[in-house]
Amino acid sequence: MLGRTKKNMKILGIETSCDETACSVVENGTRVLAESVTSSQKMHAATGGIIPENAAREQIKAILPVISGCADTEFLKEEIDAIAVTIGPGLIGSLLVGVETAKVLSYIYNKPIIPVNHLIGHIYSNFILEEYQNGRIITYKNNPPSFPIVAMIVSGGHTELAYMAGHASLKKSTIQVLGGTRDDAAGEAFDKTARILGLPYPGGVSISKASFKFRRNNPGVDYKLFPRPMINESNYDFSFSGLKTAVLNEIKKSKISLSNAIVGRLAAEIEEAITDVLIKKALTAIEEFKPKSFLLSGGVSANLRLREKFGENFEKHALWTALHVPVPKFCTDNASFIAAAAYYNRTYVDWRNVKALPQLGIE
Ligand code: KG4
Ligand code: ZN
Repeated sequence: MLGRTKKNMKILGIETSCDETACSVVENGTRVLAESVTSSQKMHAATGGIIPENAAREQIKAILPVISGCADTEFLKEEIDAIAVTIGPGLIGSLLVGVETAKVLSYIYNKPIIPVNHLIGHIYSNFILEEYQNGRIITYKNNPPSFPIVAMIVSGGHTELAYMAGHASLKKSTIQVLGGTRDDAAGEAFDKTARILGLPYPGGVSISKASFKFRRNNPGVDYKLFPRPMINESNYDFSFSGLKTAVLNEIKKSKISLSNAIVGRLAAEIEEAITDVLIKKALTAIEEFKPKSFLLSGGVSANLRLREKFGENFEKHALWTALHVPVPKFCTDNASFIAAAAYYNRTYVDWRNVKALPQLGIE
């Protein structure tokens, strides 16, 4: 059963690390043949953030409908070569739903499991080239990333910069972490400051919308209100926890009531502070490591201002490095990037030995 190769390899991906329940079939790590995803985000918007117990319950309800929406039993039996599943990092209750389901499928259909690190999955969203939608092929890009790679993951729980000489795996040492967040992740900073501004979860999306509106109506504003922590330090670490205190202080100091215009201005200030730090550290890493490709990924990479800044700066400063940014739907959690990562890092594990690892790191 282990180690077989086929010209066209179809991997079933399962992702349940947080509030998305997702399943995909990906061919040769690059072509999405089928995809099914649902999210319990609306429920968490009502509670102002994720309550892990609620997220896990929703995962249990959603997992079988999502898998059957992606692959029927005949397809699983005849066409699928392996099952890739996120084993961590993430919420333990949510992770267990995907992991245990993958084990059952592996047992029933006699398919090997490829455990996938969710963070490495995010990086591999940049390797997806094509997708079938309603029987038609959509091509996103023709050029896969080339090594060496510097990758930046900016998600709800992580802000990481990593160097990759070749494909990663679950084994240590194939990926070198250059730096990461010392406290709040970039997405967490968006989520927490959004809550202070009274904007709904997920905060990154709300801040992005409010900021976009404000910028469009107020061109030429110089956004310098909030600190850019660690921006000039000669390391690749990040710290965003001070931002929420700065936002709170600003509201208290100015005794301002939060009108739409003020929320818009503060949203733009927050977005500018976070994205300035991210682009500066990215450019420093590019200068030091001179990678062939730079890969941006994670939920925050859907941010329009961040994408714009990376585009502009790469044109200006980093001509020797190709910038890869996933299409927005592959920035946030999905199972396509899990199946893509699995294809390039095929470590087959017997179902008896697959475990959820909520604290899994990138190295
Ligand atoms: O990668 P992801 O879907 O889940 C994790 O693995 O954490 O990232 C979710 C994070 C949330 O913090 C959310 O607020 C942020 O990504 N996010 C955004 C945007 N869309 C999602 N942040 C800024 N701008 C966006 N457009
Ligand atoms: Zn994620």
